[in-house]
Amino acid sequence: MGRDKESLMASKNAPPVTETPKSEMAGTDTLDRGNTNEKLESLEQFRSDATQQALRTNHGVKISDNQNTLKVGSRGPSLLEDFIMREKITHFDHERIPERIVHARGTAAHGYFQTYEDHGALSKAGFLRDPGKKTPVFVRFSTVQGPRGSGDTVRDVRGFAVKLYTDEGNFDLVGNNMPVFFIQDAIKFPDFVHAVKPEPHNEIPTGGSAHDTFWDFVSLVPESAHMVLWTMSDRAIPKSLRTMQGFGIHTFRFINTEGKSSFVKFHWKPKFGVCSLVWDEAQKLAGKDTDFHRRDLWESIEMGDYPEWELGVQIVAEEDEHKFDFDLLDPTKIIPEELVPVTPLGKMVLNRNPDNYFAETEQVAFCPGHIVPGIDFSNDPLLQGRLFSYTDTQISRLGGPNFHEIPINRPIAPNHNGQRDAQHRTTIDKGRASYEPNSIDGGWPKETPAGPVDGGFETYPERVEAHKVRERSESFGDHFSQATLFFQSMSHHEKEHIIAAYSFELGKVEREYIRARQVNEILANIDLELAKRVAANLGLPAPTAGTVPARQTSVKESPALSQVNLLSGDIVSRKVAILVADGVDGKAVEAMKAALTAEGAHAKVLGPTSAPVKTADGQSLPVDASAEGLPSVAFDAVFVPGGKASIEALQGDGVALHFILEAYKHLKAISFAGEAKELLKLLRLEEDAGLLEVSDSKSFKAFFNAIAQHRVWDREVKAKAVPA
Ligand code: HEM
Repeated sequence: MGRDKESLMASKNAPPVTETPKSEMAGTDTLDRGNTNEKLESLEQFRSDATQQALRTNHGVKISDNQNTLKVGSRGPSLLEDFIMREKITHFDHERIPERIVHARGTAAHGYFQTYEDHGALSKAGFLRDPGKKTPVFVRFSTVQGPRGSGDTVRDVRGFAVKLYTDEGNFDLVGNNMPVFFIQDAIKFPDFVHAVKPEPHNEIPTGGSAHDTFWDFVSLVPESAHMVLWTMSDRAIPKSLRTMQGFGIHTFRFINTEGKSSFVKFHWKPKFGVCSLVWDEAQKLAGKDTDFHRRDLWESIEMGDYPEWELGVQIVAEEDEHKFDFDLLDPTKIIPEELVPVTPLGKMVLNRNPDNYFAETEQVAFCPGHIVPGIDFSNDPLLQGRLFSYTDTQISRLGGPNFHEIPINRPIAPNHNGQRDAQHRTTIDKGRASYEPNSIDGGWPKETPAGPVDGGFETYPERVEAHKVRERSESFGDHFSQATLFFQSMSHHEKEHIIAAYSFELGKVEREYIRARQVNEILANIDLELAKRVAANLGLPAPTAGTVPARQTSVKESPALSQVNLLSGDIVSRKVAILVADGVDGKAVEAMKAALTAEGAHAKVLGPTSAPVKTADGQSLPVDASAEGLPSVAFDAVFVPGGKASIEALQGDGVALHFILEAYKHLKAISFAGEAKELLKLLRLEEDAGLLEVSDSKSFKAFFNAIAQHRVWDREVKAKAVPA
């Protein structure tokens, strides 16, 4: 649509903007706090800031009219010679690139890794040696099944991909928030992904596994039993990305300064504890805030609640490789922490949001094959296939083999070699010799011998001698005992959630023979009670025995697997809603806000609208949002202060009543003061361990303890009756 000449002139004559408001520039706040590093500084040369700049073409020509195509007369046809319009439309036409084949939906942040001490006795990797060094990282979290625009809170595995820009090159630890995987051999990955992705005829469902093709595949492939159990557990609906564990899954090798190797499994343990959503909340959030996890990560970094994890490893001496009742190379198995505890190595802090989603989060390219001296692969056949797949897909996703030159992917270490040309090459290689050895360029660049410090990469000289075969080792044959271990290690409510999740998902499966196969040939081999309960919910006959004899294993229960044992113990960064209306007791609001802030939590005052309310003593109280705009699913807890008129108003406010009921149903801590008691009577909610009257610092403490417990699990059965 054209604009008339007058308004065009007005915009041309508009006063120049002198300064871009800080809030408009992503990441500025964290930059002001000094949160930068070598990698972020290296990105500076690629950042572009248009403040106080003229509008120009890609080729640098100033543009005088960005409103109208060049035409033959004001009502005539457009002219092909309009290079400004052509350039703009052409670029727009090519803005989209293929999304990732899996893990398409993601969000990322910058930060650093710092080792606690010199771990040279374990690994010679430089980033694990100097406790004074902060190694830059870029971390991308993702869901697996859904496309780029899908919901954050669907039931799914979460990707946990860490790129460490070490002085010795990039090390990518491309893991998930669950410690095992669905399949044992990479050749099955396309089959698995085709089964879990939306069905090919109608592209349904988006973001979930509750459909026939997924359950058809996993019920035919018993090696998936352990991982499917994890995805039916609360781990698949994390509360936030900050409250997830991360795992490298495969067994890797460490090589120490003396060249000695040991096997390791990587673990990331979050400072904010491990906790999840409840299923009804996850489903509602998928509609009310599709970006719930993405927003939480972004806001927590902007607010200074920096997400943090401890990196640890389980270490197995090379000579102990065969001492377990499972195979270390089998990615469907954990090493129970009761057998091998996790040794802490260092911490990772995310303290800076990206400046541009596409340039950084979308174009970042991780690959498990990116390792540095001191780390090596194991022969896990799933890992071996991954080493090929990532770079291969990135060549088409990012348009050619030079994607390592995209700023976010560049190492901070130099990268000279004889590789040349190809699409989008930006490096201007000097010299004539693009081969090695050469004498023309003095032989440069040259190889570096391997060594204990800063040496060239050397593959661990593992001795391997065998026939070439397409076979699965017999030691990969036990598919159920670790699934049983996981189920047995859950608390009562975690078990109930697993039963409910299987029942929900299989309830969406149209073909009864698939449901029956999953119950009889998979669940009955994990736990008969689990199978019977799910069968009952599906209206299927109860199985009486499994189809595979149970194996004896050395660990029967692993407390380290239950989220109940993984809470942070405090309320730092927790979000608490304070529900108010005109006539509220302003002092109670202020007291609660101050107490929460002192504990590191965040309070938001919610009114009937976004307009300020009047307190009982006539003061104006600003509100942060309306209760409709920020629903209860966005909070960890609720406080309802007293004030006669406020409570009377809330009693007639369906949004506020639903807010409280929903928080109750989702087992959140709720506190009330003064006349708010009447409101709870109206809703017929009885006090419990997390529904408390507060009046003084002692009762505040009880409320905060309830928030720190994350949920009031004892309320769960009762809360089922609440229609919210
Ligand atoms: C332990 C098993 C696996 C884990 C933990 C895992 C993890 C991940 C993660 C976290 C991502 C997203 C990376 C990002 O944020 O950009 C990803 C992407 C991907 N994965 Fe895996 N994956 C596993 C198995 C496999 C296997 C077996 C294959 C293929 C044989 C595979 C192929 C891919 C591909 C092609 C992508 C897209 C990469 C891109 O476009 O940049 N993955 N995986």
